Amino acid sequence: MIIFAVVLAVSIALGFTISRQVTDHLIRSHIGMFPFLVKHITRNQPQILDFFQSPAGNPLPAEVEQFLNDLTHFGTVFRVKVWAADATVLWSNNPEQIGQRFPENKNFQASIQGEVRAVVKNLAERENRGDQGYGKALSIYIPALIDGQTVGVVEIYESDRDLFIQIARNNRMVWLTVLFAGAILYLTLFGIFLNAHRRQKKASQQLIETQDVTILALAHQAEIHDLQTGYHLERTTLYLQILAEELARSSTYQLELSPAVIDEMVKAAPLHDIGKVGVSDAILRKPGKLTDEEFATMQRHCEDGAAILKRAEAKLSFHSFLSRAIELILYHHEKWNGQGYPHGLKQLEIPLSARIMALADVYDALRSERYYKEAFAHQECRRIILEERGAHFDPAVVDAFLAREQDFVAVSEQYVD
Ligand SMILES: [Fe+2]
Repeated sequence: MIIFAVVLAVSIALGFTISRQVTDHLIRSHIGMFPFLVKHITRNQPQILDFFQSPAGNPLPAEVEQFLNDLTHFGTVFRVKVWAADATVLWSNNPEQIGQRFPENKNFQASIQGEVRAVVKNLAERENRGDQGYGKALSIYIPALIDGQTVGVVEIYESDRDLFIQIARNNRMVWLTVLFAGAILYLTLFGIFLNAHRRQKKASQQLIETQDVTILALAHQAEIHDLQTGYHLERTTLYLQILAEELARSSTYQLELSPAVIDEMVKAAPLHDIGKVGVSDAILRKPGKLTDEEFATMQRHCEDGAAILKRAEAKLSFHSFLSRAIELILYHHEKWNGQGYPHGLKQLEIPLSARIMALADVYDALRSERYYKEAFAHQECRRIILEERGAHFDPAVVDAFLAREQDFVAVSEQYVD
């Protein structure tokens, strides 16, 4: 769109400039002989100087008047006006124009400064009273010089149909050429842009896929210890996504859970237990209940995991999903009633991503077989989660779970360890 606007603006500017230049050139070469004809009338000095300096209505020297009247039979000339330096029309072959004054006429002003001016006029101005019947005309302003001084201006009107046709034809040619060149330029630039955009999109897609694979590799590193967790990462990520999408439908969470935020959470979810990389196999695979000391070691996985990612995030110069991953890792064992760990945060003090992760994680732990327990049926998991509504879990997240429990069942049946 920007390329189109720029090419269009450049083409229009170029079209106007070239067509004006071509028209000027055509007119200049057309009017070449008129200044020489005007020189003829200023030969008759000093009578002609007296005429220029006298008020309107005084007769022109007869020889000059004859010459100017003859000029109106020259080619397509139909009107001749003689202007005094103060912009009064001293003489015209249309007597009703004599005596009028038009000091605001820009072409006259330029001509009295010594410039030959030629413009195409529509003859609608007040000063062209009586000339409307001629339609469009070329008006040529020529300074009248005596001893190198401009004493007035002679204006000649020409109604040259061939000239106007030539001007229109040239303009049409210029515009067609410019627009054609503009279209070629636009298509070329658009092609280059599209190609670059496709390459860039492919590169960033590859980068995202590499990032996803790296995250999973990192997450599985921690999971290798814990041989019983199987598809735990895949399932918990899907549970979290189901809950986040369900919550995003409500007006309360619509803004907070934009598609971009959900995307960050989904990326972060597999990393929730990455801190377990520092917990010994003996604790992770212990079939019975953990001692207080062992439980304290296990609890450290939240802060250890967050610390790993904080070190990585410090090396980045932009906001990444790692901030979301850090909050999710650090707080996914907090409870709505403040009885969780590591900080005992409660209710809305716990980031939303962690409140959602908590339910996804516990549902999967209940539903799966572990060293220390059998797998529970969905109904049993559902009963426990409902019991913990407002205790362990955010009530809104439990409600989202109830709304989508069939999707939970589907995921648990699809990814069996
Ligand atoms: Fe955990």
